[in-house]
Amino acid sequence: MPIKIYNCDDDLKHMQAACALSKNVLDFIEQHVQAGISTEELNDLCHKFIVDNGAISATLNYKGFPKSVCTSVNNVVCHGIPGAYRLKNGDIINIDVTVILNGWFGDTSRTFIVGEATNLAKKLVETAQKALEIGIQAVKPGGFFGDIGKAIQTYVQSLGFSVVRDYCGHGIGTSFHEEPMVLHYNSDKNGEMILPGMFFTIEPMINAGLHKTRVLSDKWTAVTVDKSLSAQFEHTIGVTENDVLTLTK
Ligand code: MF3
Ligand code: CO
Ligand code: CO
Repeated sequence: MPIKIYNCDDDLKHMQAACALSKNVLDFIEQHVQAGISTEELNDLCHKFIVDNGAISATLNYKGFPKSVCTSVNNVVCHGIPGAYRLKNGDIINIDVTVILNGWFGDTSRTFIVGEATNLAKKLVETAQKALEIGIQAVKPGGFFGDIGKAIQTYVQSLGFSVVRDYCGHGIGTSFHEEPMVLHYNSDKNGEMILPGMFFTIEPMINAGLHKTRVLSDKWTAVTVDKSLSAQFEHTIGVTENDVLTLTK
């Protein structure tokens, strides 16, 4: 299947609305990310916010995923399942929100610091956020998807951290995961050309140690093999004739 080309009128407006809502979920939940709250309570607050705004969660029941957001704490790379765990001072937690609004998907995540984190955790979170920004800056209509991973990997490696290879960004629009796969590392391939009308995510996962991951027996939770910390930020991007729009900003 080729990469879908959407139009920059109605389609873009639908995406802007879905993406704005997913961003608003993160803005809303930030105040609740504090020591003592459980990841399930965070999930339930996000779920209510999504439903109250006329949308549904894209992750709930997606391929059997049981919750409305992903909550990935400390050494969890992605796809953490909200549950009984209560946040404690110094934790880092990524909350990944994907909503479906009027049939359109908006996907974004941030890593939050709970109270006072170590210098390493702070540096890692800062680097993950900067890695996403650098990835977005590499997007140009007429450029290539491979530019994104090259830019991210060069930056992250220079700081001694590693880029996860087992998970990637993706096309998005009227379904959750569309082509292409958006790599966050340098694969020595240019990949497809980036063209107006493309919607996709960039969502680098950055580890303090080695890039390798494994999935726990719950079949979802991806953790670092070496138990090192992992941080991630995600935006949904829209490319028009002249602009690169960060739709979840
Ligand atoms: N939101 C994630 C992404 O960025 C996907 C989560 S799928 C789930 O692509 F099933 F784990 F929720
Ligand atoms: Co995504
Ligand atoms: Co996501």
